[in-house]
Amino acid sequence: MLEGIPKQVKIVEVGPRDGLQNESRHVPTADKVRLIEALAAAGLKNIEVTSFVSPKWIPQLADGLEVCRSLQLPVDVIKTALVPNMKGYETACQAGLSHIALFMSTTESHSKKNINKSVDEALATLGELSKQAKSDGKWVRCYLSVVFECPYEGTVSPDQVARITDKLVELGVDEISLGDTIGAATPRQVENVVKLVLRSTEISKLALHFHDTRGTALANVLAGLELGISIFDSSLGGMGGCPYAPGAAGNLATEDLVYMLEGMGVKTGVDLEKLVDAGCLAEELLEKKLPGRYLRACLSTREKENCSKAGTASAVKQ
Ligand code: HMG
Ligand code: MG
Repeated sequence: MLEGIPKQVKIVEVGPRDGLQNESRHVPTADKVRLIEALAAAGLKNIEVTSFVSPKWIPQLADGLEVCRSLQLPVDVIKTALVPNMKGYETACQAGLSHIALFMSTTESHSKKNINKSVDEALATLGELSKQAKSDGKWVRCYLSVVFECPYEGTVSPDQVARITDKLVELGVDEISLGDTIGAATPRQVENVVKLVLRSTEISKLALHFHDTRGTALANVLAGLELGISIFDSSLGGMGGCPYAPGAAGNLATEDLVYMLEGMGVKTGVDLEKLVDAGCLAEELLEKKLPGRYLRACLSTREKENCSKAGTASAVKQ
C-alpha cells in the first residue's frame, strides 16, 4: 500500500471561487485580492480566483473582472476562472486570463439547476468554448460535477461519467477535474470511477475535486494517489460548496491536504505556516471560524502560545 504514489502533486486552490461563491457575507474586492495574494505567498501556484458566471446566479463573485485586474501575483502563479458561456469567456479574455475552467454536470437535474441547460446542451456549449479557447491559445480545464452522488438523482453510474469524460477528451481539454460536489464519495467509488475514466483519459490530465461534507475527502485523495493521480483541488480552510447542490459543504481544506501529503513525503511546494496565516485572514474577512482541521488545531496552539506569552486572551477569535 502507498508504494509508487506520486512524489509531487499539483494543488489547485479553489477557495477564492468555490469558497467565496458560497459565502453569504459580502467580501469587498480589495479583501478578495488580499486573500488571493496571501495564498500565492504560501506557495500555491494554481489559484482559481473567481468565476465569470451570471451575477444574478452568483452575486458574490460579480466583481471577478476587477479582482483579476487588481491582482499582483508572482509570474509563476497561474490564475484560472470559471466560465459557463461565451459571455463569461469574453470577460475572461478581458481579464487577461490565459487559463480558463469550464464546467458541466453528469446528471440532467444538477445541470438544469446549476446552469439551466441539459447535459447535451452543456456539452455543445463546452464544444464551442473549448474550440474558441484553443484557437486563442488558452489552456482549458473542465470540471465534471456530481461524478459520484447527485443531490437530485442519487448514485451516478460510472458509465455515465466515462461517457462524458470521453467526449471531453475528444474536445481536447487540457485537464478534467472530477467533482464530488456534495462530498459523498467513498474510496472504492473513487477507484471504480477513476479506473473507468483512465481507459481514455491520460492520467496526467485527471484531477480530483473533493468536498468534505461527510469527512471522506482525505481518504478519497489517498485512493486517488494510489491510482497515480497527482492533481488535487482544495480550498483554504475548507471554505466552499455549490449553491445549486443542496447539502454541499466545504471543499477539502488545503491545509489538511498539504499536511497529509507532506507528512507522507509527497511534495506540494506549499508553506503550511503561511497557509495558516492566509486561513487567519479568511476567518477575519468572513468573521467566522472555518472548518479545516489543521487550521483549527494550529490556531488553538497559536492561541495558547499567545495566552502564555501575554497572559491574556488571544487575538484569535473563538
Ligand atoms: P441563464 O439565466 O439561463 O442565462 O443562466 P441567459 O443566457 O438566459 O442570460 C440571463 C442573464 O444573465 C442575461 O442578463 C445575461 O446577459 C446574463 P439580462 O439580459 O437578464 O440582464 N448572463 C451573464 N452575465 C455575466 N456573465 C455571464 C453571463 N451569462 C449570462 N457569463 C448561466 C445561464 C450559465 C449564465 C447561469 O446559470 C449561471 O451563471 N450559472 C452558474 C452557476 C454557478 O456558478 N454555480 C457554481 C459553480 S459550479 C460548482 O461550484 C461545481 C464545481 O466546484 C465542481 C464540483 O464541486 O463539482 C466547479
Ligand atoms: Mg466544488
